[in-house]
Amino acid sequence: MTKRVGFATRLGAIAAAVGSAVGLGNIWRFPYEAGVNGGGAFILVYICCIIVMGIPVILSEFIIGRSTHSNMKAALKKLSPGKKYYLFTYLCILGSFVVIGFYSVVCGWIIEYLYQAVLGNLSGHTPQEYNEMFTSLVASPWRCVGWTVLFLVLNFIVMSRGIEKGIERVASIMMPLLFVILIIFCVNSLLLPGASKGLKFLFYPDFSQLTMRGVLDAFGQAFLSLSIGISCLVTYSSYFKDDTSLAKDATTVAVLDTLVAILSGVMIFPAVFSFGVEPTAGPRLIFEVLPGIFQQMTGGYIWALLFFLLVFFASLTSTISLSEIPITFLIEEHKMSRGRAIAWTALFTFALAVIAALSFNVLDDIKLWGKNIFDMMDYAASNIFMLLGGLFTAVYVGWILDRKVIHEQITNGGRLKGSMEPFLIFCLRYVAPVSIIFIFLYLTGII
Ligand code: PHE
Repeated sequence: MTKRVGFATRLGAIAAAVGSAVGLGNIWRFPYEAGVNGGGAFILVYICCIIVMGIPVILSEFIIGRSTHSNMKAALKKLSPGKKYYLFTYLCILGSFVVIGFYSVVCGWIIEYLYQAVLGNLSGHTPQEYNEMFTSLVASPWRCVGWTVLFLVLNFIVMSRGIEKGIERVASIMMPLLFVILIIFCVNSLLLPGASKGLKFLFYPDFSQLTMRGVLDAFGQAFLSLSIGISCLVTYSSYFKDDTSLAKDATTVAVLDTLVAILSGVMIFPAVFSFGVEPTAGPRLIFEVLPGIFQQMTGGYIWALLFFLLVFFASLTSTISLSEIPITFLIEEHKMSRGRAIAWTALFTFALAVIAALSFNVLDDIKLWGKNIFDMMDYAASNIFMLLGGLFTAVYVGWILDRKVIHEQITNGGRLKGSMEPFLIFCLRYVAPVSIIFIFLYLTGII
């Protein structure tokens, strides 16, 4: 097999998985999804979803990956010889392109804000001016496309160098630093006048604010944030060592990822209410609110710089794991060299990302159900691709996969207790499929 991510240590493996999970999904998307879906009740559904679907599906992907030490297609062929389950891999690959397509546009915005932070342009403005700053960015095709392309070039340079040591090391330094910085920003936000309103919005579950669509959004958000449903964690776990405790690692990834999301909420919402920004502002939310937080702080210039730098790295560790899905597939299933596989992946990614970047300006009159192309990709990625992928994974491991494989993987061949197994099977067989199917049927109007 071609060598890709050689996780030398358990910490390296965890850092890479957490690096994939923690990204814009937590810092950018979670707060705005919570904002448009009414806050507290959304977050409660989100957390339940992480426990009964997120952790079981992460664990399932780990089981598939580590038991076969192969990419998704080869893994499904090995685990179910003679069956067609491996066709699911194509959905994963398509899904990974859709995610990275819209995701890299936001990464581009992050680089623009990083650049503005370097120039010192992020301070000294009114909330209205921050609003205009973002509006002028997305209205400019050149700036949007330029930053997105720059981000992708950086992404593929890292990929071409091999992601072994560099990204693993960067992730293990940057992630803890990101935590510390987030906590500092949270404390700062909590000291703002009117902070308690923000906390109430975030933590008080007002179910009258939550629609069924909001529940679907919470499911989709959880799957996107945990990087599950498109075989990303199958790829990573195929390089795990045989003595790693999969249950422990799956839980660690989910807990850390959720913590970053909640901390981002605690950082943003007190400021949202204090600065009078609408919590329903959508994708622009953090870009309007964050600069306001920085300018309240002593040494705001440095904080802004540090923050966007860390978010940049957090998103890079995510896009790397995303592009690794098609790259690995092309190398192993189509016998391409790494360089060729990267070139093909880059070609598709650039095309999709440029279209997404233009959907706020040149292509902004192309709309379906009121959503522009970017919004559609964002919506389809998590609420359709990842959720359907999660459903497949749950049903496959819960109902189809040989129980011996599951037991063997969870207990490491009988060496661990594996007390999570009954919970895992119950969630995979019943909770996840029933909830996902129910929500789809409800939203399509069938029930
Ligand atoms: N989980 C990442 C985030 O929250 C996004 C991602 C999705 C990464 C799917 C890899 C695979 O930002």
